[in-house]
Amino acid sequence: MSNVEAIARPAPEAEAEDPHVNGMAAYDALVAEAEADYAGYWARLAREFVTWKTPFTRSLDDSNAPFFKWFEDGTLNVSYNCLDRNVERGLGNKVAIVFEADDGQVTRVTYSDLLARTCRLANALKARGVRKGDRVVIYMAMSVEGVVAMQACARIGATHSVVFGGFSAQSLRDRIEGAGAVMVITADEQARGGKHLPLKAIVDDAIALGGCESVKDVIVYRRTGGPIDWQPSRDHWMHEETEGQPEVCEPEWVGAEHPLFLLYTSGSTGKPKGVQHSTGGYLLHAALTTKWTFDLKDDDVFWCTADIGWVTGHTYIAYGPLALGATEVVFEGVPSYPDAGRFWQMIQDHQVSVFYTAPTAIRSLIKLAEGDAAVHPARYDLSSLRILGSVGEPINPAAWEWYHRHVGGGRCPIVDTFWQTETGGHMITPLPGATPLVPGSCTLPFPGIAAAIVDETGNDVPHGQGGILVVKKPWPSMIRTIWGEAERFRSSYFPPELKGYYLAGDGAIRDAETRYFTITGRIDDVLNVSGHRMGTMEIESALVACTDLVAEAAVVGRPDDTTGEAICAFVVLKRARPTGDEAKKIATELRNWVGREIGPIAKPKEIRFGDNLPKTRSGKIMRRLLRSLARDEAITQDTSTLENPAVLAQLAEKN
Ligand code: WTA
Repeated sequence: MSNVEAIARPAPEAEAEDPHVNGMAAYDALVAEAEADYAGYWARLAREFVTWKTPFTRSLDDSNAPFFKWFEDGTLNVSYNCLDRNVERGLGNKVAIVFEADDGQVTRVTYSDLLARTCRLANALKARGVRKGDRVVIYMAMSVEGVVAMQACARIGATHSVVFGGFSAQSLRDRIEGAGAVMVITADEQARGGKHLPLKAIVDDAIALGGCESVKDVIVYRRTGGPIDWQPSRDHWMHEETEGQPEVCEPEWVGAEHPLFLLYTSGSTGKPKGVQHSTGGYLLHAALTTKWTFDLKDDDVFWCTADIGWVTGHTYIAYGPLALGATEVVFEGVPSYPDAGRFWQMIQDHQVSVFYTAPTAIRSLIKLAEGDAAVHPARYDLSSLRILGSVGEPINPAAWEWYHRHVGGGRCPIVDTFWQTETGGHMITPLPGATPLVPGSCTLPFPGIAAAIVDETGNDVPHGQGGILVVKKPWPSMIRTIWGEAERFRSSYFPPELKGYYLAGDGAIRDAETRYFTITGRIDDVLNVSGHRMGTMEIESALVACTDLVAEAAVVGRPDDTTGEAICAFVVLKRARPTGDEAKKIATELRNWVGREIGPIAKPKEIRFGDNLPKTRSGKIMRRLLRSLARDEAITQDTSTLENPAVLAQLAEKN
């Protein structure tokens, strides 16, 4: 059925040796299997990829849509599946994690070591009273200990909520309170790009802000030994807690629907949402997609450069590769330190064969390599690479070509993986050895995923015509609910007009000939800055929280060569509109304010000031106009309904 022949410009090197999904015929066969018996297809894979303590007897339960359940009467433990199972298979001495610290120091951790460390921490958490179903916030940088903390929670049935180490005290506080966490696991500091940055101090600040009374204990991993404050009744060193704890800890066998984790992410309205994931269905898709999308084999060295604070670091660092018994690289630092050759140096040193990163990183490294031949990938031996991956935002064809040619040596297929925090794992992606590639397209749905493009009433749009990306059938690793906000879950993802389909929030278009998907970007007010999701409303709320200065603010995105999108804020002050140096000074002040309120990733790239915002006579802000202004486009829209057209000239002015 596939249209391979019709593809205009397939990259012939999309071939892998003896791939898990061998050719388009194999892909089509899997799609057909899922179509013929949807629940049966996923049940077969769930038996193949997951080791169950008690086998499930039911696959999909859709009796209470959209609160779907998968494999509900089965019991399992994720940490057992990622660690013990591999040791039992004889992989105890295999390296699970090659950790490279910011300063280049390398530590190797075998599966036996990782299991022992996980058990000791799990026992320590239990000794502090953490029980099945309790929430534990993890606020750490990239580290073996971070992965161990996640695995230890999974082992005892505690639900973790990892908060990215770049979030501010305020954001951390909101997430601790939202989850009702009983414990926070953190580090004294993090080492990034040669600098030491605080973590524990931010936890202290977050708790001091109030609302975190549920937190009984803070466990601190000593990373740098830098100075920190200490509250003896609450704070405990991780090494003291785990010392003397047994290296054995019986896994807590939980039901397949037990919440493995919450992960807060931005939406178009309101505060960030605590996306709740399951245990069984999530683990299945983590393991399955790691194997098929990356064609992962036993002797591969896998490196996903994401942070464990984002979903990519959950699925493709903490869980997927470990569930398969793979060897993976975990990197503490940043791609530009000590120089922009760091990634290539590490690929060479660790003989990385599968490399998974974000377009933003590629674009910034292209720029740096163009300016300095010494950090160009051509200077390194990257012949160990077999497969490249991209995630988090659209990869523009120019970056794709560079990645393909200079990093992959023209040999390696690039899997452009489209997915979301809510989907748990890959949704639309090429499979190496099966899918011919087209730069800029994430190609076809993962076998079994019912991705489609519809109009506002949920009807299919013809190929070649853009529309709303939906998933028509529930899938095992889908979001189960928004923590504590079931109605918000229903209205955000299953709006009534869309016939019960899952609304991704992205626009997409399918090629009429190849049937390939191309993601055209978010259709809501979610921005994607360097692959980080940000709600415009969150940034607006942060700005207006600066009550001394700000009367009103509106935030829009605009395209940016390096970061994909950039944040542009339009601000009305409580005082007269500033100009010249004063405007620059206040813009800097506000940018830092947002950095403190949310985190540095949310700082607007540009702030412009007006006496007012462009509004209709009924008081509605005309965001379309703001988007044009942010892009420095001439205003071609009809402005006759505008209450105050004079502000347009003010807001067109840069500081
Ligand atoms: C965008 C990250 C184009 C998209 C895994 C989605 C992409 C949002 C791609 C989710 C891709 C992710 N091509 N766009 N390959 N991958 N996106 O939740 O807008 O941080 O909705 O998950 O990133 O971001 P999130």
